[in-house]
Amino acid sequence: MSLTITKLSHALGAVVSGVDLAQPMSEVVFEKITQAWREHLLLVFRDQQLDFKQYVAFGSRFGELERHLHQASDYLHPEHPEIYSITNREMNGKPSETRDVGREWHTDKSYTVRPLKATLLYCKQIPEAGGDTMFTNLYYAYETLSPALQSMLDELWAVHDFSKRLSNVATYLDPEKIAARRKASPPVHHRVVRIHPETGRKALYVSKAVTTRFQGMTKAESEGLLSHLFEHSVRPELTLRHRWQVNDVGIWDNRCTLHLALKDFEHTSARHMYRMAVLGDTVGHVVQ
Ligand code: SIN
Repeated sequence: MSLTITKLSHALGAVVSGVDLAQPMSEVVFEKITQAWREHLLLVFRDQQLDFKQYVAFGSRFGELERHLHQASDYLHPEHPEIYSITNREMNGKPSETRDVGREWHTDKSYTVRPLKATLLYCKQIPEAGGDTMFTNLYYAYETLSPALQSMLDELWAVHDFSKRLSNVATYLDPEKIAARRKASPPVHHRVVRIHPETGRKALYVSKAVTTRFQGMTKAESEGLLSHLFEHSVRPELTLRHRWQVNDVGIWDNRCTLHLALKDFEHTSARHMYRMAVLGDTVGHVVQ
């Protein structure tokens, strides 16, 4: 069966059919998939029946997988610490701590010096309606700015601070865990315009979830332009709203996209995703 790529929106995203991710994949097929990934930024593979080993094997084709050895184990797969559950199901009789992950536009781990290259979700339960994820194309976000602003942003760095994001979940996370996470994630600097290492294209690399100010400027001085960039980067025509189906495997490129997990459903309706992520390059540095 040959590979078919069907676009999901003008801005980004495509469904790949004609491939069974449970089977060993040739270099030729994988190269076609990576080419499609570079072009569409998010790929979705429908109706995949994978065991965890096969899921890990597929994710590993994209690079070294993130392992969560240090984190609370309730959400980690006992044999595959690369796999993390994003769920609203109760865990050990307690409300899930991952039930509201990603409720602000962000790109994974941009608050570290080594943000994630890619993230995968394997959808196992989805509410009857809702539970969608939105994505935006950060190449287009940059390319649709005026040239004068592009030139100015090309020279700037910005602060990405996990504390900003934590303040949104602080109401239900244990204070000790919050303090430990803050300590483990000091603010970092990243270029505002990131050059993708594989495509050479420029992407606007700021997000409402964690970007707090431009390097060398105060929050007050940065606020107006940052608000404009946050709003501009998620203009509807730059985005895709993905409606998940059970057994979808999705993989997106964090170097040129933002995403947002919508709270468009009731927590009485189960949503369960198995998340994995691929480590990226070291491109930032800790704020001194
Ligand atoms: C995330 O932000 O990584 C979670 C995305 C989702 O659950 O839709």
